[in-house]
Amino acid sequence: MALTQFTAGATGTWQIDRILAVTGSTLALAGRLEVSALPPTARPDAVWMLSGATSYKRYTERAEQAALDAAQPALGRPEARCAALIPIRKTARWWDLPQDERRAVFEETSHHIAVGLEYLPAIARQLYHSRDLGGPFDFLTWFEYAAGDASAFEELLARLRTSREWDYVEREVDIRISR
Ligand code: HEM
Repeated sequence: MALTQFTAGATGTWQIDRILAVTGSTLALAGRLEVSALPPTARPDAVWMLSGATSYKRYTERAEQAALDAAQPALGRPEARCAALIPIRKTARWWDLPQDERRAVFEETSHHIAVGLEYLPAIARQLYHSRDLGGPFDFLTWFEYAAGDASAFEELLARLRTSREWDYVEREVDIRISR
């Protein structure tokens, strides 16, 4: 399994601009963030480290995947100098739901994919799973966008955070970075 490591500390490609606890407890502030595929090395300056793995799709249906494939940009666009790392943990009540009911909350009720598609191709994204790794979060979500698309990204977040799906979010930390 390919792991991606996010290490906050004194060094790293990305500058951490701010860390905001949206729900639940925050993560400590640090100056820079390193994103790496390498196994964790001892970093004396590390303030925190989170790990996640890309995985198979749980909820995306074929037509939705086709729409995403047609619109979603790759990570690492040179003009996308702003990024967000948003670790999220969902409640036990969410994880106790059967698959079909989670899908219904996620898309039929909250329109997560339909809403998200409205913001493509401005926002590039990658979802990492960390629940099965035993970390403090279930998901590490990552987004990249150009400075000119920052307000669109805020609007997208506001829409998702008021959706029914977010009733099941018990911890969310919003980390903004730039390069
Ligand atoms: C999952 C699309 C923005 C948080 C997903 C999935 C898709 C998707 C297709 C389902 C993957 C699967 O089938 O397993 C999008 C699109 C976005 C967007 C197109 C537009 C940029 C966001 C934002 C957040 C977010 C802004 C909040 C920080 C999540 C989380 C999951 C997820 C936490 C995992 C949900 C779960 O498995 O319970 N997203 N998303 N997404 N997304 Fe988004």
